Amino acid sequence: MTLFTDTQDALFDALRPQAPDALLGLITAFRADPRPDKIDLGVGVFRDDHGATPVMRAVKAAEARLVADQQSKAYLGAEGDARYTELLAELLLGADAADEEHLAGVQTPGGTGALRLGAELIARARPDARVWIGTPTWPNHMPIFRAAGLAIQPHAFYHRDTGGIDFDAMMADLSDAMPGDIVLLHGCCHNPTGAGFGADQWRDIAALCERRGLIPFIDLAYQGLGDGLDDDAAATRTMLARLPEALIAYSCDKNFGLYRDRVGALWVQSRSGAGAAIAKGNMLAIARGLWSMPPDHGAAVVRVILDNPDLRADWMAELDAMRIRLNGLRMALSACHPRLAPIANQRGMFALLPLSSDQVIAAREQHGIYMAPDGRINIAGLTIDTITAFARGIVPYLNI
Ligand code: LMR
Repeated sequence: MTLFTDTQDALFDALRPQAPDALLGLITAFRADPRPDKIDLGVGVFRDDHGATPVMRAVKAAEARLVADQQSKAYLGAEGDARYTELLAELLLGADAADEEHLAGVQTPGGTGALRLGAELIARARPDARVWIGTPTWPNHMPIFRAAGLAIQPHAFYHRDTGGIDFDAMMADLSDAMPGDIVLLHGCCHNPTGAGFGADQWRDIAALCERRGLIPFIDLAYQGLGDGLDDDAAATRTMLARLPEALIAYSCDKNFGLYRDRVGALWVQSRSGAGAAIAKGNMLAIARGLWSMPPDHGAAVVRVILDNPDLRADWMAELDAMRIRLNGLRMALSACHPRLAPIANQRGMFALLPLSSDQVIAAREQHGIYMAPDGRINIAGLTIDTITAFARGIVPYLNI
């Protein structure tokens, strides 16, 4: 006998079909393309002059130490590796950050885990808070906040035609935010545009948040890949110095090249030490229900590197070289066409080309150039050799 009958709806038939993730789908599409001169400018991974994404030297050395020295893989708990979070806080916020009692941090599975945990924390604390997000943004931002049940409020940010930020329009939009609303900000190296605020603009944003009681949620996924470790942290430091409450989602995916190991952290700044302790307790309770405990390996690698002066120095040197390569490619690309000129002054891994979705498809089909559907390119995917072929494929669209 069975209780499954023809009249009972099948559980999974109730689901709606989902389109594959447009960005991650590029990985498979590129691999399947047999053309030898294809160019992968899709998903955001750093590539060297040979198109490879090598494991960083310091990471390899730290992994060897872990294999030799690690005595146990017993659970660490929902907080993950506390020393890792402490060292990372110092790297991001300065030497005293780990002792700052208004600040609470936990390890998370990647920057995505940090964003989701922060979103769930906000939803618990203030379910009616709106999250203001400048457009365009990383395509995963909005789904993450929506999944936590929060309302999204898009605001002006970038002008695709000028390749610059429309700061006045953004500030005008944000002046409609209600006290207690959240403002999502890319701490450096904006994804997908590469466009960044100047120091004065960051001060204006901080002042607006202060005036209107808005809480910044800073997403920092590229520290060290824009202008350097301290310069890329400067905006986050400005915001935290000026505002009593803030959240920071951090990713080590790109600056330590640990993509698939999923290494991130979430910090909250609270008005008081007691508030930070309560926030941390809630972060741990939420994390327990989401992933129970974050994966250890990548965070342990980062801890070993940051705790050892030699490995740390070697990591910083390699990161410097990565940044220099990216900014060199930016200069070369910006010289290819006047409409690409803004790329020279933008930072990080990405630029958003002024292309229509049809042109993005045509570039893939006719020239084997793979980029995100919105026209975002991963600059690191270019080499001095492929830039010419890339420009030859793209420039005709820019002249239309
Ligand atoms: C990207 O934007 O390409 C990366 O952050 C990868 C991702 O998860 O989308």
